[in-house]
Amino acid sequence: MPHVLSATDMPAAELLRRAEAWRQRLTENATPPIQPKAALVALLFYEPSTRTRAAFEQACVLLGYHPLVITVEASSIVKGESLQDTVRTLNAQGVRAIVIRHPHSGAPQLAAQVSHTPILNAGDGAHEHPTQALLDLYTLWLHYGKPDPTTQWLSGRKMAIVGDIRHSRVARSNLTLLTRAGAEVWLCAPPTLQPDAPLQNAHLTSDASEAVRDADVVMALRLQTERMAQGLLPSLNAYRRDYQLNTPRLQLAKPDCVVMHPGPIQRGVEIADEVADGARSLILTQVQNGVYVRAAVLEYALEEK
Ligand code: CP
Repeated sequence: MPHVLSATDMPAAELLRRAEAWRQRLTENATPPIQPKAALVALLFYEPSTRTRAAFEQACVLLGYHPLVITVEASSIVKGESLQDTVRTLNAQGVRAIVIRHPHSGAPQLAAQVSHTPILNAGDGAHEHPTQALLDLYTLWLHYGKPDPTTQWLSGRKMAIVGDIRHSRVARSNLTLLTRAGAEVWLCAPPTLQPDAPLQNAHLTSDASEAVRDADVVMALRLQTERMAQGLLPSLNAYRRDYQLNTPRLQLAKPDCVVMHPGPIQRGVEIADEVADGARSLILTQVQNGVYVRAAVLEYALEEK
Protein backbone atom coordinates (compact mmCIF):
# COMPACT_ATOMS: atom_id res chain seq x y z
CA MET A 1 0.00 0.00 0.00
CA PRO A 2 2.01 3.04 -1.18
CA HIS A 3 1.49 6.36 0.55
CA VAL A 4 2.44 9.46 -1.46
CA LEU A 5 3.92 11.74 1.19
CA SER A 6 6.94 13.40 -0.34
CA ALA A 7 8.58 14.05 -3.70
CA THR A 8 11.58 12.02 -2.54
CA ASP A 9 9.76 8.69 -2.45
CA MET A 10 7.65 9.13 -5.60
CA PRO A 11 8.46 6.95 -8.63
CA ALA A 12 8.54 10.01 -10.89
CA ALA A 13 9.32 8.28 -14.21
CA GLU A 14 6.52 5.75 -13.74
CA LEU A 15 4.06 8.48 -12.74
CA LEU A 16 4.97 10.67 -15.75
CA ARG A 17 4.15 7.73 -18.04
CA ARG A 18 0.87 7.07 -16.23
CA ALA A 19 -0.07 10.78 -16.46
CA GLU A 20 0.69 10.70 -20.18
CA ALA A 21 -1.61 7.70 -20.61
CA TRP A 22 -4.37 9.67 -18.87
CA ARG A 23 -3.74 12.72 -21.06
CA GLN A 24 -3.99 10.63 -24.21
CA ARG A 25 -7.11 8.81 -22.99
CA LEU A 26 -8.86 12.11 -22.16
CA THR A 27 -7.67 13.81 -25.34
CA GLU A 28 -9.19 11.01 -27.42
CA ASN A 29 -12.40 10.98 -25.39
CA ALA A 30 -13.26 13.83 -22.99
CA THR A 31 -15.90 11.65 -21.30
CA PRO A 32 -14.33 8.18 -21.25
CA PRO A 33 -16.38 5.20 -20.08
CA ILE A 34 -16.12 4.88 -16.31
CA GLN A 35 -16.72 1.76 -14.26
CA PRO A 36 -18.20 3.06 -11.00
CA LYS A 37 -17.00 1.40 -7.81
CA ALA A 38 -19.11 1.40 -4.66
CA ALA A 39 -16.24 3.03 -2.79
CA LEU A 40 -15.13 6.40 -1.50
CA VAL A 41 -11.90 8.35 -1.58
CA ALA A 42 -11.78 11.02 1.16
CA LEU A 43 -10.42 14.47 0.41
CA LEU A 44 -9.57 15.91 3.81
CA PHE A 45 -8.90 19.61 3.37
CA TYR A 46 -7.79 21.58 6.42
CA GLU A 47 -6.80 24.51 4.17
CA PRO A 48 -8.46 26.20 1.18
CA SER A 49 -7.72 24.88 -2.31
CA THR A 50 -9.11 25.24 -5.81
CA ARG A 51 -6.70 23.49 -8.21
CA THR A 52 -5.55 20.56 -6.10
CA ARG A 53 -8.97 19.75 -4.72
CA ALA A 54 -10.77 19.99 -8.09
CA ALA A 55 -8.08 17.86 -9.76
CA PHE A 56 -8.27 15.16 -7.10
CA GLU A 57 -12.09 15.22 -7.33
CA GLN A 58 -11.84 14.70 -11.09
CA ALA A 59 -9.26 11.98 -10.58
CA CYS A 60 -11.64 10.13 -8.25
CA VAL A 61 -14.45 10.33 -10.80
CA LEU A 62 -12.19 9.15 -13.64
CA LEU A 63 -11.16 6.12 -11.59
CA GLY A 64 -14.77 5.33 -10.65
CA TYR A 65 -14.54 6.40 -6.98
CA HIS A 66 -16.88 8.81 -5.28
CA PRO A 67 -14.96 11.78 -3.81
CA LEU A 68 -15.95 12.49 -0.21
CA VAL A 69 -14.83 16.08 0.43
CA ILE A 70 -14.38 16.95 4.10
CA THR A 71 -13.50 20.51 5.02
CA VAL A 72 -12.60 21.60 8.51
CA GLU A 73 -15.59 23.91 9.05
CA ALA A 74 -18.14 21.19 8.27
CA SER A 75 -16.59 18.30 10.17
CA SER A 76 -16.02 17.00 13.68
CA ILE A 77 -12.56 18.52 13.51
CA VAL A 78 -14.13 21.73 14.89
CA LYS A 79 -15.29 19.69 17.91
CA GLY A 80 -11.69 18.85 18.69
CA GLU A 81 -11.23 15.51 16.93
CA SER A 82 -7.56 14.82 16.23
CA LEU A 83 -6.19 14.18 12.74
CA GLN A 84 -5.34 10.60 13.72
CA ASP A 85 -8.88 9.92 15.01
CA THR A 86 -10.37 11.44 11.86
CA VAL A 87 -8.19 9.09 9.79
CA ARG A 88 -9.13 6.07 11.96
CA THR A 89 -12.81 7.00 11.53
CA LEU A 90 -12.53 7.21 7.73
CA ASN A 91 -10.61 3.92 7.68
CA ALA A 92 -13.36 2.27 9.73
CA GLN A 93 -15.92 3.44 7.19
CA GLY A 94 -13.92 1.80 4.41
CA VAL A 95 -12.61 4.73 2.38
CA ARG A 96 -10.01 3.47 -0.09
CA ALA A 97 -7.59 6.41 0.18
CA ILE A 98 -7.29 9.73 1.99
CA VAL A 99 -5.98 12.89 0.33
CA ILE A 100 -4.83 15.41 2.94
CA ARG A 101 -4.08 19.12 2.76
CA HIS A 102 -2.98 20.51 6.08
CA PRO A 103 -1.41 23.76 7.38
CA HIS A 104 1.09 21.85 9.55
CA SER A 105 4.24 20.32 8.11
CA GLY A 106 4.32 16.57 8.69
CA ALA A 107 0.54 16.10 9.13
CA PRO A 108 0.25 13.54 6.26
CA GLN A 109 3.15 11.56 7.78
CA LEU A 110 1.28 11.46 11.12
CA ALA A 111 -1.86 10.30 9.32
CA ALA A 112 0.08 7.57 7.50
CA GLN A 113 1.22 6.13 10.85
CA VAL A 114 -2.36 5.18 11.74
CA SER A 115 -3.94 4.64 8.31
CA HIS A 116 -4.75 1.28 6.74
CA THR A 117 -5.32 3.00 3.39
CA PRO A 118 -2.99 5.15 1.28
CA ILE A 119 -2.43 8.74 2.38
CA LEU A 120 -1.77 11.25 -0.41
CA ASN A 121 -0.14 14.54 0.54
CA ALA A 122 -1.98 17.45 -1.12
CA GLY A 123 0.28 20.02 0.55
CA ASP A 124 1.43 20.24 4.17
CA GLY A 125 2.46 23.60 5.61
CA ALA A 126 5.72 24.86 4.17
CA HIS A 127 6.98 21.29 3.85
CA GLU A 128 5.95 19.44 0.66
CA HIS A 129 3.49 19.49 -2.22
CA PRO A 130 4.58 16.40 -4.13
CA THR A 131 1.75 16.19 -6.66
CA GLN A 132 2.22 19.88 -7.58
CA ALA A 133 5.92 19.23 -8.21
CA LEU A 134 5.02 16.17 -10.27
CA LEU A 135 2.59 18.13 -12.44
CA ASP A 136 5.24 20.84 -12.91
CA LEU A 137 7.72 18.15 -13.94
CA TYR A 138 5.15 16.57 -16.26
CA THR A 139 4.45 19.99 -17.86
CA LEU A 140 8.16 20.44 -18.59
CA TRP A 141 8.47 16.84 -19.79
CA LEU A 142 5.73 17.48 -22.37
CA HIS A 143 7.21 20.88 -23.27
CA TYR A 144 10.61 19.31 -23.99
CA GLY A 145 9.14 16.54 -26.15
CA LYS A 146 8.80 13.62 -23.71
CA PRO A 147 12.47 12.59 -23.31
CA ASP A 148 13.28 9.28 -21.59
CA PRO A 149 12.06 10.07 -18.04
CA THR A 150 14.54 7.65 -16.46
CA THR A 151 17.45 9.84 -17.64
CA GLN A 152 18.72 13.24 -16.47
CA TRP A 153 16.55 14.81 -19.15
CA LEU A 154 16.71 18.34 -17.66
CA SER A 155 20.51 18.32 -17.69
CA GLY A 156 21.84 21.67 -18.96
CA ARG A 157 18.59 23.48 -18.13
CA LYS A 158 18.49 26.36 -15.65
CA MET A 159 15.32 26.69 -13.59
CA ALA A 160 14.72 29.82 -11.48
CA ILE A 161 12.08 29.78 -8.73
CA VAL A 162 11.43 33.33 -7.55
CA GLY A 163 9.29 34.46 -4.63
CA ASP A 164 8.43 33.44 -1.10
CA ILE A 165 10.82 30.49 -0.84
CA ARG A 166 10.70 30.45 2.97
CA HIS A 167 7.05 29.34 3.07
CA SER A 168 6.95 27.39 -0.18
CA ARG A 169 6.22 23.66 -0.12
CA VAL A 170 6.13 23.85 -3.93
CA ALA A 171 9.75 25.05 -4.08
CA ARG A 172 10.89 22.23 -1.77
CA SER A 173 9.15 19.43 -3.68
CA ASN A 174 10.16 20.91 -7.04
CA LEU A 175 13.78 21.12 -5.95
CA THR A 176 13.76 17.37 -5.31
CA LEU A 177 12.21 16.35 -8.63
CA LEU A 178 13.94 18.91 -10.84
CA THR A 179 17.44 18.20 -9.54
CA ARG A 180 16.81 14.46 -9.83
CA ALA A 181 16.02 15.08 -13.52
CA GLY A 182 19.31 16.97 -13.86
CA ALA A 183 18.20 20.64 -13.75
CA GLU A 184 20.25 23.43 -12.22
CA VAL A 185 17.83 24.99 -9.72
CA TRP A 186 18.07 28.59 -8.50
CA LEU A 187 15.92 29.75 -5.59
CA CYS A 188 15.48 33.50 -5.28
CA ALA A 189 13.82 35.45 -2.48
CA PRO A 190 14.40 38.63 -0.49
CA PRO A 191 16.64 37.96 2.53
CA THR A 192 13.62 37.88 4.88
CA LEU A 193 11.86 35.21 2.77
CA GLN A 194 14.78 32.84 2.40
CA PRO A 195 14.62 29.43 4.11
CA ASP A 196 15.81 29.06 7.71
CA ALA A 197 17.96 26.06 6.86
CA PRO A 198 19.98 25.58 3.67
CA LEU A 199 18.25 23.54 0.94
CA GLN A 200 20.53 20.96 -0.64
CA ASN A 201 21.44 21.17 -4.33
CA ALA A 202 20.00 24.68 -4.79
CA HIS A 203 21.69 27.94 -5.71
CA LEU A 204 20.21 30.47 -3.31
CA THR A 205 20.22 34.19 -4.12
CA SER A 206 18.40 37.39 -3.28
CA ASP A 207 19.27 38.87 -6.68
CA ALA A 208 16.44 38.20 -9.15
CA SER A 209 18.60 39.20 -12.11
CA GLU A 210 21.17 36.55 -11.19
CA ALA A 211 18.44 33.91 -10.86
CA VAL A 212 16.57 34.76 -14.08
CA ARG A 213 19.59 35.46 -16.32
CA ASP A 214 19.84 32.73 -19.01
CA ALA A 215 17.11 30.65 -17.36
CA ASP A 216 15.18 28.10 -19.42
CA VAL A 217 12.28 28.14 -17.00
CA VAL A 218 11.16 30.78 -14.48
CA MET A 219 8.57 29.91 -11.85
CA ALA A 220 7.03 32.74 -9.85
CA LEU A 221 5.66 32.03 -6.36
CA ARG A 222 2.91 33.74 -4.41
CA LEU A 223 3.64 35.62 -1.20
CA GLN A 224 2.08 33.35 1.43
CA THR A 225 0.84 36.09 3.73
CA GLU A 226 -1.26 33.53 5.66
CA ARG A 227 1.99 31.89 6.88
CA MET A 228 3.99 35.10 7.22
CA ALA A 229 4.97 36.69 10.53
CA GLN A 230 4.46 40.45 10.55
CA GLY A 231 7.38 42.47 9.28
CA LEU A 232 8.79 39.83 6.95
CA LEU A 233 7.83 41.96 3.97
CA PRO A 234 8.44 45.61 4.84
CA SER A 235 7.32 47.05 1.47
CA LEU A 236 5.12 45.51 -1.22
CA ASN A 237 6.26 48.16 -3.71
CA ALA A 238 9.90 47.27 -3.11
CA TYR A 239 9.02 43.60 -3.57
CA ARG A 240 7.34 44.34 -6.91
CA ARG A 241 10.34 46.40 -8.02
CA ASP A 242 12.93 43.79 -7.07
CA TYR A 243 11.18 40.43 -7.62
CA GLN A 244 8.09 40.73 -9.83
CA LEU A 245 8.27 38.62 -12.98
CA ASN A 246 7.56 41.25 -15.62
CA THR A 247 8.60 41.80 -19.23
CA PRO A 248 11.92 43.61 -18.56
CA ARG A 249 12.97 40.96 -16.03
CA LEU A 250 11.99 38.10 -18.32
CA GLN A 251 14.17 39.57 -21.06
CA LEU A 252 17.18 38.45 -19.01
CA ALA A 253 16.16 34.82 -19.52
CA LYS A 254 16.77 32.71 -22.62
CA PRO A 255 14.63 33.75 -25.60
CA ASP A 256 12.70 30.47 -25.44
CA CYS A 257 12.28 30.59 -21.65
CA VAL A 258 8.88 29.44 -20.37
CA VAL A 259 7.00 30.80 -17.36
CA MET A 260 5.31 28.76 -14.66
CA HIS A 261 3.33 29.45 -11.49
CA PRO A 262 1.69 26.86 -9.22
CA GLY A 263 -1.20 29.24 -8.47
CA PRO A 264 -3.10 30.90 -7.05
CA ILE A 265 -1.70 34.00 -8.75
CA GLN A 266 -1.61 37.44 -7.21
CA ARG A 267 -1.61 39.47 -10.40
CA GLY A 268 0.50 42.60 -10.27
CA VAL A 269 2.43 41.36 -7.23
CA GLU A 270 4.75 38.42 -8.03
CA ILE A 271 3.82 38.33 -11.71
CA ALA A 272 2.68 40.96 -14.21
CA ASP A 273 -0.48 40.36 -16.25
CA GLU A 274 1.37 40.43 -19.57
CA VAL A 275 3.68 37.63 -18.40
CA ALA A 276 0.97 35.52 -16.73
CA ASP A 277 -1.17 35.69 -19.89
CA GLY A 278 1.69 35.86 -22.40
CA ALA A 279 2.81 33.42 -25.06
CA ARG A 280 5.52 31.92 -22.83
CA SER A 281 3.14 31.15 -19.97
CA LEU A 282 2.47 27.48 -19.16
CA ILE A 283 0.27 28.36 -16.18
CA LEU A 284 -3.04 27.01 -17.47
CA THR A 285 -1.27 24.01 -18.99
CA GLN A 286 0.00 23.25 -15.49
CA VAL A 287 -3.59 23.39 -14.19
CA GLN A 288 -4.83 21.07 -16.94
CA ASN A 289 -1.95 18.65 -16.40
CA GLY A 290 -2.83 18.58 -12.72
CA VAL A 291 -5.85 16.42 -13.54
CA TYR A 292 -3.80 13.80 -15.45
CA VAL A 293 -1.16 13.74 -12.73
CA ARG A 294 -3.66 13.32 -9.87
CA ALA A 295 -5.38 10.52 -11.81
CA ALA A 296 -1.97 8.87 -12.25
CA VAL A 297 -1.06 9.23 -8.58
CA LEU A 298 -4.41 7.95 -7.32
CA GLU A 299 -4.31 5.02 -9.74
CA TYR A 300 -0.79 4.14 -8.55
CA ALA A 301 -1.77 4.36 -4.86
CA LEU A 302 -4.92 2.29 -5.30
CA GLU A 303 -3.55 -0.37 -7.63
CA GLU A 304 -3.80 -3.93 -6.35
CA LYS A 305 -0.20 -5.15 -6.04
N1 CP B 1 -1.15 25.08 -6.41
C1 CP B 1 -2.10 24.79 -5.51
O1 CP B 1 -1.89 23.96 -4.62
O2 CP B 1 -3.28 25.47 -5.68
P1 CP B 1 -4.56 25.31 -4.74
O3 CP B 1 -4.20 25.87 -3.40
O4 CP B 1 -5.64 26.08 -5.43
O5 CP B 1 -4.88 23.84 -4.63
